[in-house]
Amino acid sequence: MGLICVSPTLAAVPNFEPENKEKQMLTKKATVYRNMAAGIGLASMMALVAACGGSGSAPAEKPATANEAAKTEAATPLPGMITADQIVPPLEEGKIDQAMVSKGKEIYEVKCLSCHSLGTNRVVGPGWEGIMKQRTPEWIMNMILHTDAMLETDPEAQAMLEECLVRMPNQNLTNEEARDVLEFMRTL
Ligand code: HEC
Repeated sequence: MGLICVSPTLAAVPNFEPENKEKQMLTKKATVYRNMAAGIGLASMMALVAACGGSGSAPAEKPATANEAAKTEAATPLPGMITADQIVPPLEEGKIDQAMVSKGKEIYEVKCLSCHSLGTNRVVGPGWEGIMKQRTPEWIMNMILHTDAMLETDPEAQAMLEECLVRMPNQNLTNEEARDVLEFMRTL
């Protein structure tokens, strides 16, 4: 859970395991820490900042187990949410629709670029590089179209919010526009 926004450089540190455990604990207590900001030590602050991606220009090398965990947990179907078979048009294995990609890229530049980079670094929200490896397509569609419901009910979205400390506003995309952005993400 605590690995979603984690800096790839942090993941490369040899004593990653204990540090990560400590970070997870800190992340869970993020709300408490916010309320007692005056009492926070420098170390805690740094742990929270690192949890959301840092400056990482290094390539995304998240542990495979973390990616798997994220994918499994993300597959929770909730009422009113899009399921895999409701994605129109369906994703074609090994084939990318370039017309949809360019529409998706335009939407990204107007509505998402201010908060999301195309690399691994965080701006306000997480960078999008490799996102298709970490998330299912339906999870991404729901995050775009049902942002508030996801932030209120989905454990993975909530974990991200706790780490990023900013709530993503719903960008009011149509289903088709969200699908175009998803196709664009497949190229990242
Ligand atoms: C005002 C800043 C902001 C804008 C604009 C924004 N987002 Fe986000 N987004 C966030 C934040 C912050 C998160 C992390 C979740 C949270 O804290 O709410 C996020 C998370 C996401 C995620 C999940 C990322 C992951 O790694 O799993 C997706 C997908 C996403 N946003 C898509 C979009 C799309 C598509 C757009 C444009 C149409 C967009 N966002 C515009 C701030 C933003």
